[in-house]
Amino acid sequence: MKLCILGGGGFVGRHLISLLSSRGHEVLVPCRHRDRIKPLLVLPGVTVTESDIHDPAQLRRLFTGVDAVINLVGILHGSEVAFRKVHVDLPAKVASACQEVGVTRLLHMSALGADAASRSIYQRTKADGERCVMSVPGLAVTAFRPSVIFGQGDSFLGLFAELLRLAPVVPLAGGHARFQPVYVLDVARAFADSLDDPETIGQIYGLCGPRIYTLAELMAKVGAVFGRSPLILPLGDAASYAFARLMEFKPGRKLMTRDNYFAMQVDNVCPEGFPARFGLATELDGVIGYLREASPRCNYDRFRRRAQR
Ligand SMILES: NC(=O)c1ccc[n+]([C@@H]2O[C@H](COP(=O)([O-])OP(=O)(O)OC[C@H]3O[C@@H](n4cnc5c(N)ncnc54)[C@H](OP(=O)(O)O)[C@@H]3O)[C@@H](O)[C@H]2O)c1
Repeated sequence: MKLCILGGGGFVGRHLISLLSSRGHEVLVPCRHRDRIKPLLVLPGVTVTESDIHDPAQLRRLFTGVDAVINLVGILHGSEVAFRKVHVDLPAKVASACQEVGVTRLLHMSALGADAASRSIYQRTKADGERCVMSVPGLAVTAFRPSVIFGQGDSFLGLFAELLRLAPVVPLAGGHARFQPVYVLDVARAFADSLDDPETIGQIYGLCGPRIYTLAELMAKVGAVFGRSPLILPLGDAASYAFARLMEFKPGRKLMTRDNYFAMQVDNVCPEGFPARFGLATELDGVIGYLREASPRCNYDRFRRRAQR
């Protein structure tokens, strides 16, 4: 198939594009900074182009002649305006552009916990964006709601690994919050398998791994990978909120915000587990060693972000 993937330069996008390329698809990847996604350039069938995907005319041009569009664009931190632009306005523009140029298949990345009534703007806007695309006439849509995603290059367990290198004692906001982490290659497979599976049209799939962990348990697992037993101090509710507030003043990369705190108030789990039609979900214990394999290259994104390039 000929595919256009928005947000393809991110963590999930890189794994998904690599899988799609290995399955023989042609993939067009619009991005903001071509230099940032150099590793994709060498993949067979992958074309990278710098574009403004918020401009409807550019979207129409990108989607012309394409069989399916995949929208992975998302942010975890920002103002309400920024969240709305990325999670609601953009999906609406994507759906309209698909209609206008005759693309009939759209895969949409949402998030577990998406809820129009949530206190978290992230979760509210994810719900609104999902609603925008699910009911567009003539468009066959499948949406995915993963719990937190782990795998080579993630910024979740990867961040824990960085923190543990710095401190033997870690006060952990939201330490009791529960997640059901899902492996990035399982998420990629769910997207890739859905493309030509008519049964998935109109569905919203929760994507969760085989086990539920608290945040504190996940941090202990990361410590064990590096042979460390850090003292993890899960903070209570009031202290977690205060910590999140304090972290909002930290310049550069955000560790946590009050919006993340609100999102963590509800368990990020799916009782039905990983959908059977996409195969078996990978155990975290079986692959977590990827954290040790992080090469110096993995720091490049952090350096670029710090230099605002
Ligand atoms: N990772 C998880 O644990 C997780 C869990 C649940 C749901 N999700 C969802 O999965 C999707 C992908 O997540 P990810 O971890 O791959 O995120 P990521 O690494 O941060 O990638 C996000 C992508 O979106 C693009 N993007 C962000 N803001 C943009 C904007 N204003 N205009 C244009 N492009 C923009 C980024 O482009 P640049 O490279 O130019 O910045 C990047 O390609 C997101 O929708 C996220 O909400 C992720």
